[in-house]
Amino acid sequence: MEGKTMTVYEQWAAPILGQIREKMAWSSEKNKDKIPYTTDAQGSYIDCAAGNDCGGLGWWTNGFWGGTMWLLYQDTGGESYRRIAQASEDRLSRCFDFFYDLSHDVGFQFQPTAVTDYRLTGREESRKRGLHAASLLAGRFNPAGNFIRAWNNAWPGADVRGWAIIDCMCNLPLLYWASQETNDPRFRHIAMLHADTAARCFLRADGSVRHIVEFDPETGAYIRSHSGQGYAHGSAWSRGQAWAVYGFALSYRYTKKQAYLDASKKVADYVLTHLPESGLVPCDFMQPAEPEWEDSCGAAILASGIWELAEVLPDGGEKERYRQGAWRIADTLYRQRTDWTHNCDAIVQNCTAAYHDEKHHFPMNYADYYFIEAVYKMAGKNYAPW
Ligand code: GLY
Repeated sequence: MEGKTMTVYEQWAAPILGQIREKMAWSSEKNKDKIPYTTDAQGSYIDCAAGNDCGGLGWWTNGFWGGTMWLLYQDTGGESYRRIAQASEDRLSRCFDFFYDLSHDVGFQFQPTAVTDYRLTGREESRKRGLHAASLLAGRFNPAGNFIRAWNNAWPGADVRGWAIIDCMCNLPLLYWASQETNDPRFRHIAMLHADTAARCFLRADGSVRHIVEFDPETGAYIRSHSGQGYAHGSAWSRGQAWAVYGFALSYRYTKKQAYLDASKKVADYVLTHLPESGLVPCDFMQPAEPEWEDSCGAAILASGIWELAEVLPDGGEKERYRQGAWRIADTLYRQRTDWTHNCDAIVQNCTAAYHDEKHHFPMNYADYYFIEAVYKMAGKNYAPW
């Protein structure tokens, strides 16, 4: 940082980057042949892609391991990170053959892996995989309601043809990338039509967001909302808030459409005014006092997403307010919910996949991904793939 004064955020991030480099050096080597989602009772990553303790090779989080490797590669130049990322992408890409398993989450799977690989190395195979994934995502668009269908099957017997979910906002950058890459505006048109629908139908007046909205797949009419992974119908699942803040900020960055910036700010304001005194993010901002389920993964996405929102704003008080909000969440997470020992392969602890699940407070690989992404951003290095 010669010749330049470090910001308070850069000063905060510098020693944490050292810890990240140290932990990822051994954890990546130990787990180089796996695509992890969570850890076993001994703290060792389980190979999710082999179908252990998650949905198998096509599981929606399987791009975050390769994505983490690319973050570290950009930081350190370490060739082993590139090798692990590419091996992970090659393995993950076999899920294209399953087809029926793939959902709107192809963005989470292939943007941090294939698209990033292509951007950094020019690997032609990776470009093809990114465009393949973008075409699958675009193919889920329903022009009757202007939404991207989320899943093929939520559970046996459910009719989910008209279901869209807030999480999809963070899959849209794959479409923006595909339009830029091919000079074909179709992908961007679809992303914007979906984002317009999300801003209109998912956001409530107070800035909380619905998780699932069901449309009539024939007419496109709004039918109802569903509670999804949060506490209850009408509540505010914190990871849903996080996908919304981050996703709308990214859509604004690509399109400069004011409505997306307004949506991102509105959701971020809800989060920052409902954040508990402790600074720890609950699984749901409307959950009862007991049980006190946390979601550190939601916290990590919020830290990176609110920082992203600050980055698209001009210098001034508002930008600084969001930066401080993002930093407060990241700092609390760092001080209270990270593990830098060899006892656990993951860094971030106390994640919750869904409020009503039996299992709570365990490591989830994509919490590490977003935490690391956020620390790099706060260090002034934006390596994010979105
Ligand atoms: N996209 C699903 C989740 O956040 O758990």
